[in-house]
Amino acid sequence: MITADLIVGIQWGDEGKGKMVDLLAQKYDAVARYQGGHNAGHTIWVDGVKHALHLIPSGILNPNALNIIGNGVVVCPEAIIKEMKQFENLEGRLFISESAHMILNFHIAIDQAKERARGDKAIGTTGRGIGPAYSEKISRAGFRLGELRDITKLTTRLEEYFEQNSAIFSALDIALPSHDELVKELNEYADKLLVFLTNTTQMIWKLLDEDKKVLLEGAQGTLLDIDHGTYPFVTSSTTISAGACTGLGISPKDIGTVTGIVKAYCTRVGNGPFPSEDFGDDGIRLGEQGHEFGTTTGRKRRCGWFDAVACKFASRVNGCDQLSLMKLDVLDGFDEIKVCVAYELNGEEIDYMPQDLENVKPIYKTFKGWDKSVGARNFNELPKEAQDYVKVIEELTNTKVGMISTSPERLDTILL
Ligand code: GDP
Ligand code: IMO
Ligand code: MG
Repeated sequence: MITADLIVGIQWGDEGKGKMVDLLAQKYDAVARYQGGHNAGHTIWVDGVKHALHLIPSGILNPNALNIIGNGVVVCPEAIIKEMKQFENLEGRLFISESAHMILNFHIAIDQAKERARGDKAIGTTGRGIGPAYSEKISRAGFRLGELRDITKLTTRLEEYFEQNSAIFSALDIALPSHDELVKELNEYADKLLVFLTNTTQMIWKLLDEDKKVLLEGAQGTLLDIDHGTYPFVTSSTTISAGACTGLGISPKDIGTVTGIVKAYCTRVGNGPFPSEDFGDDGIRLGEQGHEFGTTTGRKRRCGWFDAVACKFASRVNGCDQLSLMKLDVLDGFDEIKVCVAYELNGEEIDYMPQDLENVKPIYKTFKGWDKSVGARNFNELPKEAQDYVKVIEELTNTKVGMISTSPERLDTILL
């Protein structure tokens, strides 16, 4: 039986997953997203034209691939309706799980109110309601897209929920919609979305049974995983490859090649530990050369050096067969390039990620930089030092580099 290949973020998100899913989708029959919500933001450049995606899978720019949003995704109806407007003829190309939980306006208001209440201990969420929607799913108090098929019943359920949680809403000073406003809003969602809802698990099983090629698309990154990331500074979903099983209803045996998407350096948006963060001129330069501003919130991304300890961990936890090394060109022109090869914790050198990541110090090895790699499409076109850097990453992470990206454009990619 054919298996589905998987794309997963290795660091704290924004590795360039969108670019690679878009490129690879040309060879796949379907792309299926398995977790996260509109906290994700993917910028994809095709022939000089920029596209921004949040919820719609990154296969959508390829006219031949079906695009599936699995049950593990949290879907904000308002956000997806807005995002869908940039595309024509989505019917028959976009399929959304009827079991996916909805992010409604009150989830967003709770997320933002809780962040404000945390003050200087805020997580730095995207404010998109991700945490509250997933919490209510786990608490068995969530609302699924399929419920839009019976607005009367859904309105009653929502009003009961508002009543049961009235103390929370008033403590957080959150205004709730009136009955009429709620009915109007839900009807609008139903009008625009019902036609796309389906049983996506059955759909993917059928595709696989028919030997169709399916690409599984992860959002965020391994270090933001709810269990394996830098808790509590994480997102609220299972971002690692295992999330594809619960988020789509496939079994581990359905997963084929796993490709980890990793930047040639490191970035992070939001708060939380980042051992190889560079607070000096190099960090600023990485941010400038890499245009490191968030696609979703426009926030400046924190920048630092490649963390081989974290990447080796992420490669193992995801079962990566290969890495796709992104944004190599951003290192162009640096005289020296640092790589974090180990950590120091309480005076001891360690080569794994401890729970107490806040207190580790990075141990760096320095490598010689190169002049120009931007736009290279063959390994031989890369300067010798850049080729050596790729080999160093393979050795330090115990994982082969199968793809290298040298610009935002689809075709500026080296396939090894
Ligand atoms: P995602 O969330 O993982 O899909 O990544 P984002 O789209 O949020 O961030 C990656 C950014 O880097 C986007 O603006 C891409 O256009 C850009 N990008 C992707 N690959 C490359 C590359 O190889 N070189 C450069 N310079 N930019 C890239
Ligand atoms: P893509 O798919 C980078 C971060 C937020 C915050 C933490 C929790 O584009 O790689 P949340 O809103 O999820 O509750 O925020 O997770 N975060 C991301 N950082 N890329 C993303 O997605 C992210 N999605 C969430 O900045 O630190
Ligand atoms: Mg992103």
